Amino acid sequence: MGRSIYCVVTAAGSGTRLGNPEPKALVKLAGSPLLHHALRALEPLQGLAGVVITAPQDYLETFAQVAQGAALSYPWKVIAGGTTRQNSVYQGLQGLLSFDRGAGQVTADDPEAIVLIHDAARALTPLQQFQRVCAAVASGCPAVVPATELVDTVREVAGESFTRQEVEITPAGATPDRAHLRCVQTPQGFAGNVIFAAHQQGHEEDQAGDGALDDAMLVARLGYQQYFVAGSRQALKITYPLDLQLATWLAQNPNRE
Ligand code: CTP
Ligand code: MG
Repeated sequence: MGRSIYCVVTAAGSGTRLGNPEPKALVKLAGSPLLHHALRALEPLQGLAGVVITAPQDYLETFAQVAQGAALSYPWKVIAGGTTRQNSVYQGLQGLLSFDRGAGQVTADDPEAIVLIHDAARALTPLQQFQRVCAAVASGCPAVVPATELVDTVREVAGESFTRQEVEITPAGATPDRAHLRCVQTPQGFAGNVIFAAHQQGHEEDQAGDGALDDAMLVARLGYQQYFVAGSRQALKITYPLDLQLATWLAQNPNRE
């Protein structure tokens, strides 16, 4: 492919819904932290020139030990994330810009660099998914999102929930045609100039500091067309305890994209 690939691995979340005392990226999956799996998954990606890992402020050293233990052949560094995912990604992008690697370093206006934003929580993302995203960016798509078709029928909510007979009940609304809908995953891939500009604008306009916009929404505001490539169910986001159980099974039974 020939183009340099950079990646921000977001791992600064606390994992409230998983419910473990430690940050989610340190929770063990088949004997190793989620972060270890996420970083090892990137190892075979050709052209990977640098990875920035966002960590909770108090865990910078622990996260660096996990990365060290993963015996990675690509350059990496750990930085402190922010209080929201949007801010963590922004900090991660700043980290890419200040990578101490000399000549090959990415700049914020580089249209040739491929920048991936990837959630450590999708620890079992198959290599082919990274490759599909990178190939689509390299083919000229400025913003690429891996996505899956919906398994379930989806319905809109039509009003406020209420409780009757101790059951929470919610009025149901319209049924959108799910053929037109996708569930989005990571890594999301961008031409370097696109993602740096999008997050810079998001950072400057985020007056409330609520960091509510994801990478795709920030890029959409700049008017770029975004594209889907196939995601995979193996790239599930480990969110609840059941997801961790499923992921444990997947980790023990690989090659099932
Ligand atoms: N993340 C981050 N910085 C934050 C919040 C989230 O880097 N301030 C990262 C998480 O570490 C995770 C990814 O963004 O890899 C997706 O977030 P999510 O799955 O929601 O993880 P958590 O925020 O940790 O989980 P929860 O929402 O249950 O607390
Ligand atoms: Mg979260």
